[in-house]
Amino acid sequence: MRYGHFDDERREYVISQPDTPLPWINYLGMEGYFGIISNTAGGYSFLSDARLRRLTRYRYNNVPADAGGRYIYIRDDSTGEYWSPTWQPTQTALESYECRHGLSYTTIASTYNGIRAETLYYVPLGETLEVWRLRLTNLGDEPRELSLFSSVEFCLWDAQDDATNFQRNFSTGEVEVVDGVIYHKTEYRERRGHFAYFACSEPLAGFDTSRDAFLGPYRGWDRPLAVERGTAGNSVANGWSPHGSHHVRLTLGPREEREVVFLLGYWENQPDMKFDPPDSQIIDKRGVRPVIEHWLRAETVDDGLEQLRARWSELLSTVQVETPDSHTNRMINTWNPYQCVATFNIGRSASSFESGVDRGLGFRDTNQDLLGFIHAMPERARQRLLDVASTQLANGGAYHQYQPLTKRGNDSIGSGFNDDPLWLVLSVAAYLKETGDVAILDELVPFDSDPATASPLLDHLRRSVRYTLDRRGPHGLPLIGRADWNDCLNLNSFSESPGESFQTAAIRDDGNAESVFIAGQFVLAADELAAIGLRLGHTEDAAELREWSDAMKAAVVAHGWDGAWFLRAYDDAGHPVGSSTNDEGQIYIEPQGMCVLAGIGLDDGRARRSLDSVSERLSTRHGEVLLQPAYTRYRPELGEISSYPPGYKENAGIFCQTNAWIMIAEAMTGDAGAAFEYYRRINPSAREDISEVHRCEPYVYAQMIAGRDAATPGEAKNSWLTGTAAWNFVAMTQWILGIRPEHDGLRIDPVIPAAWPGFTATRRFRGATYRIRVRKPVGVTGRVRKLMVDGVRLDGIVIPPAAPGSSVEVDATVESELDVAS
Ligand code: GLC
Ligand code: GLC
Repeated sequence: MRYGHFDDERREYVISQPDTPLPWINYLGMEGYFGIISNTAGGYSFLSDARLRRLTRYRYNNVPADAGGRYIYIRDDSTGEYWSPTWQPTQTALESYECRHGLSYTTIASTYNGIRAETLYYVPLGETLEVWRLRLTNLGDEPRELSLFSSVEFCLWDAQDDATNFQRNFSTGEVEVVDGVIYHKTEYRERRGHFAYFACSEPLAGFDTSRDAFLGPYRGWDRPLAVERGTAGNSVANGWSPHGSHHVRLTLGPREEREVVFLLGYWENQPDMKFDPPDSQIIDKRGVRPVIEHWLRAETVDDGLEQLRARWSELLSTVQVETPDSHTNRMINTWNPYQCVATFNIGRSASSFESGVDRGLGFRDTNQDLLGFIHAMPERARQRLLDVASTQLANGGAYHQYQPLTKRGNDSIGSGFNDDPLWLVLSVAAYLKETGDVAILDELVPFDSDPATASPLLDHLRRSVRYTLDRRGPHGLPLIGRADWNDCLNLNSFSESPGESFQTAAIRDDGNAESVFIAGQFVLAADELAAIGLRLGHTEDAAELREWSDAMKAAVVAHGWDGAWFLRAYDDAGHPVGSSTNDEGQIYIEPQGMCVLAGIGLDDGRARRSLDSVSERLSTRHGEVLLQPAYTRYRPELGEISSYPPGYKENAGIFCQTNAWIMIAEAMTGDAGAAFEYYRRINPSAREDISEVHRCEPYVYAQMIAGRDAATPGEAKNSWLTGTAAWNFVAMTQWILGIRPEHDGLRIDPVIPAAWPGFTATRRFRGATYRIRVRKPVGVTGRVRKLMVDGVRLDGIVIPPAAPGSSVEVDATVESELDVAS
């Protein structure tokens, strides 16, 4: 069953029923001012950091779900009847409803009682504000007397504190209302130089800034007293809960259409320009007023939307494909890169599942998010690489996360995840391959944000590798520390106390437990760094790195192979994890993916064997589960993984990101059918028809789909903010379609399904545009045997970078292995 459809032409997902299984959200903002918005206008906004600079309030885990957001109420002043044109919060039975989630904008349109209302929400490029443009149409032949009431509930900036520290916060709230603009200025009187504002294009009949005055006692958003009464209270918040509501009265003639613009924004004043007059406590509005006036104009709003659309067309034009599979096309051309921008910007901090207070930008997550982002905005990727590297510790280790506002690392969600530092090598390597910008390696980057320690980025990468090398266990495999990529495989926790965090509690013993996953990751990273070293002429370094990599490979082959698949780990007692000798958790997916990605076992059949084991043991029609058999009871020696009920999350859920590794591994071994089939199973667009099972948005990947052991197999959770976005984009564009940036140029090495006759693609790469046509006989699989570049046959399949600004015609012919043999 579906709740909407894709409008591929307009790059929108159109939701045609408001009560979707879960709120289906979109993101507003691409640069610094962000918000989440649901299909019924729920959500909240923040500046850069969802925890520290929250503009509006939102209550997670509330009932009904997703209550609170960017609301406008319409009231028929002749009858007193009122409704929400976005369905929430009044849940009036609208006569028509349509939400269109587009690229960084959302429109919600409905008709009720002869009035059509369409609200457009977006954040203009370069601004720290959001526009809500309401278009109202009187569909009837009689004039209508209407009232509009807007509504936002302000957050007192630090969202965590706002939700907990009531003894203080009920006394600090302050606002100003001047010329119809509501200013939220809690703590502006002391150390903050910033405030929020809420403005409206129309003259006001009244306003409210006290939430309790607006709603009335014991009332919710569904029946505010001010709206019911038809007059605002002109309330001024003093403490309690500052709120913003404009009351506008208008008469709509027969068939008349009107536009009303609301602006919610953020502004910062310099410390010496906070007050006007300077000795007063009144906000100096000279900076913000012109911005407000500008954006309240209808033409400005139209232009801003056009600019936003143009920006997205430009960004997406970097990679465009036309394949025989419409699900692939729409994900690769629009939604997958769009999700990659969201994960780059938001990390794992703010979604319907991430509360915005828990996590900032993860070290490992950020480095992986970059993989799907560099091609689109290389300058921003560069800055992010330097930011994240600046939080690295001098011993090569890493904080597990940093706060985007302060850019400083912290331990608040734990530390000692031994995979963390290696991800930096992989993201920098990907950046170099995409851009060729080797100068980044010379950038002076501090350790632990201390400028005195600055050293070249290349040195950071060496320390990452050394960190692993210096921390190996009894089998010569890397020590796992608190955990590796799998946050929940905690081999050093032995936690027995209820509620103790597996992430932050002390690690008991750190000298034995080893990770085969990190071993694979180490080989990959050491090889990447060796390749970079060779290009820089550092031959000795490169040779040394290769030795380390070879030694690690040998350790994996000797101690990390279970007979038919790669082991997962050794626990603290030296027992294998992910082995046929275990009663549960015999095979894990991650090492099968990562070891093959690192090239381990490609030449001796182990890679193929391990992927066959994945297919035999982990495969379901909804995707490949993380492990089998699921753990049915808690095991202190394994930690959080066994705390989840079977089939969910890391305990045998389909952790979608890992599926991308298997797709890549299958492509590396040349199994086109398997690679694409794995892609198809978790492609959200291909799952749209089972939205009642999948439940999350059909336009973005979810972190997890419940596995075969779960009570609800096929049910997705944690949509939007997941490494799945970047990895699936890489898997499909670089390995299945095979258009892969390398240091020496663009490799064309597709591994596509037998049924395809080929595909076409446009790829911008280091300033040149490549128009690529791949042809293949239907019914076979194979590799590129002939590559024509601008009509000339190329020796090999790596096209050297063309002059920036040029356009290159590429014709690739795939032949089956059989044809080549005959
Ligand atoms: C979550 C985390 C990520 C981790 C994964 C597996 O997605 O954000 O860092 O690798 O779970 O535990
Ligand atoms: C990862 C896992 C999740 C776990 C969290 C912190 O995000 O996906 O299961 O709860 O890490 O432990």
